[in-house]
Amino acid sequence: MTCKTVATQPFSDQKPGTSGLRKLVSVFQQPHYLENFVQAIFDSIGDFKGQTLVVGGDGRFYNRQATQIILKMAAANGFGRVKVGQGGILSTPATSAVIRKYNAFGGIILSASHNPGGPDGDFGIKYNIDNGGPAPEKVTDAIYDRSKTITEYKIVDAPDINLDILGTSTLEGMTVEVIDSVIDYAALMESLFDFDRIRQLFTTGKFRMCMDSLHAVTGSYAHAIFEQRLGAPKGTVQNGVPLEDFGGGHPDPNLVYAHDLVEVMFGENAPDFGAASDGDGDRNMILGRNFFVTPSDSLAVLAANATLVPGYRNGLAGIARSMPTSQAPDRVAAKLGIDCYETPTGWKFFGNLLDAGKATLCGEESFGTGSNHIREKDGLWAVLFWLNILAVTGKSVEELMKEHWQTYGRNYYSRHDYEAIDSDRANTLITQLRDKLPTLKGQKFGSYEVEYSDDFSYTDPIDGSVSQKQGVRIGFTDGSRIVFRLSGTGTQGATLRLYVERYEADPTKHNDDPQVALGELIAIADTIAQIKSLTGMDKPTVIT
Ligand code: G6P
Ligand code: ZN
Repeated sequence: MTCKTVATQPFSDQKPGTSGLRKLVSVFQQPHYLENFVQAIFDSIGDFKGQTLVVGGDGRFYNRQATQIILKMAAANGFGRVKVGQGGILSTPATSAVIRKYNAFGGIILSASHNPGGPDGDFGIKYNIDNGGPAPEKVTDAIYDRSKTITEYKIVDAPDINLDILGTSTLEGMTVEVIDSVIDYAALMESLFDFDRIRQLFTTGKFRMCMDSLHAVTGSYAHAIFEQRLGAPKGTVQNGVPLEDFGGGHPDPNLVYAHDLVEVMFGENAPDFGAASDGDGDRNMILGRNFFVTPSDSLAVLAANATLVPGYRNGLAGIARSMPTSQAPDRVAAKLGIDCYETPTGWKFFGNLLDAGKATLCGEESFGTGSNHIREKDGLWAVLFWLNILAVTGKSVEELMKEHWQTYGRNYYSRHDYEAIDSDRANTLITQLRDKLPTLKGQKFGSYEVEYSDDFSYTDPIDGSVSQKQGVRIGFTDGSRIVFRLSGTGTQGATLRLYVERYEADPTKHNDDPQVALGELIAIADTIAQIKSLTGMDKPTVIT
């Protein structure tokens, strides 16, 4: 075995987005492309000599090859040990849990999350720091800067490691430990939730669940946790075999892409509870029988019922939500007398609040929910949290949600995505919108009057760092909001996201279709931003 230094030239497009570097597989397969980025990570994270690195991925196409490259580069760069998931597999939440449990220096996660996989799909890589969470912006900026000047990388010339057999081996003085992908994560879940109560729920035979893993990473985790440990019948988990191309699907748990689950949950004889998770297992969607729970409401319900769950029995320190997430959780926080923090989109912004003990639960409208148990959002954790609440209360999903609205009022909420639009058009739309912002206050649109309009800026209360231009917000005098931002996770063109929210206190008006309840605001958004004419699209590609 020898350690090689390979001469290389920088790529100009290695700027990490909302959640790491995501590109088409073919981009990553260019000679030196992955290696450059990995070396840029290693050059930007400080002294890790002799330390432990965790490596895992969501199993998508190119996961195995990339894992081998990273192991060889970690050895050549001086890591003491790599813990790698069996077969190169670790869900994002499991990676976070393993980093924390074993005090690792950091971790590398190979995933493009909910983006499609396969040879023509996307691949991705992100670095997580020692708290188990995504690297903060100062680290991702340093990685990007380094990627622009890199001239060489280090790699060991050695045969591939067998990733399928558990156990340890050595690579140029570095220990490689192939770990069970599920055990540590499942143990953490068992420490937080009342597995006995949930088991009872399943074994009565009266309660049925459908978990759709969308052929992505949670397949193995869901089989092990729901069917093996919690006694749910075989078949509870569907699409549970992880595939390199996710079976050709789009591993995103929403009403459009999780269509198999939607058919089951809105069909005849639907089960009591349905859930789905995404490519790397950090997102979740929660459904009841013929009933969809919007992610913002899900966070609010978990917060309101947290003390029913062993891991949160002593209450919450605070709640945090991303800015475009609805204000439903704020109402729960107000009632509990705790703080609710509003952060920019991107889970990394929750890290400091969690580390400082300011927030216990966090959530995003983009189907992400989590807590201080790790530093990533956690799909199966959210599913178990719901199950625990259902088991303790004996209520259905719909009953819980409707009672919640009765207590707190309903924040009608919807997100409209305009995907793969031309980047120039998208930038024009946002620029024109920004130019309009100072003129909007006081303007009337139908029954709505603009109370404020701004481009969201966030000052981190812990380290004082400032993140600007995080989304255009237009707030109305009745508390309704429309928010516009461009996605930071897409790989083709630009994706415009429009988020619309309206509060309804009157319980007799809680059962409307959100698209109808929000209809006027949706039309106002188009009037203000000229979405249809500037994107050239007459309707959104995805509505959630
Ligand atoms: C990833 C991040 C989330 C973020 C989401 C949406 O999943 O981990 O924290 O909310 O992307 O990002 P986007 O920029 O596409 O709206
Ligand atoms: Zn994800």
